Amino acid sequence: MLLEVRDLHVYYGDIHALDGVSLALDEGELVSVIGANGAGKSSLLNCIMGIVPAGGGKILYGGREINNVKVHERAAAGIRIVPERARVFPRLTVYENLLTGRFGARDKGGLEEKLEWVYSLFPVLEERKTQPASTLSGGEQQMLAISRALLGDPGLLLVDEVSMGLMPLLVDKVFEVLSMLNRERGLSILLVEQNALASLGISSRSYVLETGAIALEGPSDRLLEDERVREAYLGL
Ligand SMILES: Nc1ncnc2c1ncn2[C@@H]1O[C@H](COP(=O)(O)OP(=O)(O)O)[C@@H](O)[C@H]1O
Ligand SMILES: [Mg+2]
Repeated sequence: MLLEVRDLHVYYGDIHALDGVSLALDEGELVSVIGANGAGKSSLLNCIMGIVPAGGGKILYGGREINNVKVHERAAAGIRIVPERARVFPRLTVYENLLTGRFGARDKGGLEEKLEWVYSLFPVLEERKTQPASTLSGGEQQMLAISRALLGDPGLLLVDEVSMGLMPLLVDKVFEVLSMLNRERGLSILLVEQNALASLGISSRSYVLETGAIALEGPSDRLLEDERVREAYLGL
């Protein structure tokens, strides 16, 4: 297993945001976690990244417990996050934002090739490379956040609600790129989403997170047929 989360708890003061979450992701898998607003999706990813502390349980990456490993060390080990609402640096140019993704990357060479590669995935970033990131649309900022993470040569990409606020056409485009990265480059991706239809559509397995706990899990095509999922998450 590339990633194993065992009985994970996250607390913010009295708020118990994750209440014993267990999940696993194999090398080369694209796994999604679907859940409503406030279910604990960001808490889960931020805890795996080390941005919020685990209040109990274990996180293993490549078989090694990383609970006490600092964020930058997790990044150096290959864990990269596309944070909720992209969180690009607004005053830096698109190009400078991309460069920040290189900090602590595992392989040092090949910057030009990596830039060419992300520009081929998202040509708009090349067109806008000298503009401040604040001038990009929401969708373009998401593309920048994904590309910045890719420049870090990730072994595991954590993607937090990349579809939030995007037009359906853009959601399709971004999800298509994530799916391609997984299929063609074998990139391991853990995707958390409110957009259940899109994320069940590109993942092999999924978990349903409800108020801090896993309520359901299974192959995504089976969850797409599940009555409870269809009613609560697909509006069918
Ligand atoms: N920094 C924080 N301080 C206090 N409560 C928080 C904080 N971040 C999240 N929460 C609470 O934790 C719960 C889970 O939030 P979150 O992980 O952001 O869910 P999601 O990403 O699924 O919307 C919610 O009840 C939310 O209000
Ligand atoms: Mg969130």
